[in-house]
Amino acid sequence: MVWPDASARALITGLALPPSSREAQQGKNEGVPVTTDWAKLWRLLATHDIQTGAEGEAQMVERWRRVAREIDATTARRPGAPNPLLDFLLSRLLPEMTVLDIGAGIGRWTVPIARKVRKVTAVEPLSGMREVLQERLASLGITNVALVDAPWMDARVGPHDVAIAAHSSYTSPDLLGFVRKMERSARKACYLALRVPAHDGVIGELSLRFRGQWHDSPNFIVGFNLLLSAGIYASVVMEKATVRRWSDKTLEDALERAKRHLGVEDAHHDQAIMECLSQRLALADGAYQWPDGMRSALLYWDQDET
Ligand SMILES: C[S@@+](CC[C@H](N)C(=O)[O-])C[C@H]1O[C@@H](n2cnc3c(N)ncnc32)[C@H](O)[C@@H]1O
Repeated sequence: MVWPDASARALITGLALPPSSREAQQGKNEGVPVTTDWAKLWRLLATHDIQTGAEGEAQMVERWRRVAREIDATTARRPGAPNPLLDFLLSRLLPEMTVLDIGAGIGRWTVPIARKVRKVTAVEPLSGMREVLQERLASLGITNVALVDAPWMDARVGPHDVAIAAHSSYTSPDLLGFVRKMERSARKACYLALRVPAHDGVIGELSLRFRGQWHDSPNFIVGFNLLLSAGIYASVVMEKATVRRWSDKTLEDALERAKRHLGVEDAHHDQAIMECLSQRLALADGAYQWPDGMRSALLYWDQDET
């Protein structure tokens, strides 16, 4: 993974500019930060997305197969495992509605939605994911889901009442194009779930230091601002608690994780990264705990509001 050179970064954000260029750009308005081109920033982060690109397809499908087993085991014991964003969406769906689930994966959202509405179209380009979803639908006796084998921008689907895309837009460089196609396919409302990085996360700090850019991957901050800049005034449901936190058995494991996220392959910055990790990670319960808690946000907007 090669992060673009300094001049390419400079096109994206003023943060990456060397001081002389930054001053030149600011001109008379000294001290006023240059504005960010959110569409370009999303494109850059999506193109180089480490979080979605580092894992092979087979491993990703296997990981999600385990998630599916866990969901089905939990749901069998106690209906409705907590997912506040999904619960919010479900509370706004009506039995007669049709729903388009873009990037359905193993059907974490598809299955509960299908139980509530008339019909779901699940768009999923990866055959391994579709197989797990099909197995789940069959074993759960769900018959109102149609599968579409295509990436969203190539998918041919008719209009539905609602379009949702939960964590499936990160590999799409043109987020606005992705969202505009959602709008053309949804009569009533659109929903977009995105990850929210921790404001004080170590990865952000390291990314700014070594890549000249705080954001290490496409996320809610970039996506929400991009939508605003295009005149889409989405409402937001924010998960209250951070649901996932990394922990590593050794500082060396933490270093490997940091390098993976930063797209750094050589050992050039190892010492500096290690220094930062040993200051910022807390040793508790026999492991190094990252402060980088992740939560998700659900952006939504009704079609007659925009
Ligand atoms: C992180 S999983 C999320 C799955 C599910 N929406 C959920 O939240 O559990 C992302 C899914 O989006 C799919 N995906 C990635 N890019 C896509 C695209 N351009 N169009 C449609 N699906 C896509 C992937 O194949 C994967 O199954």
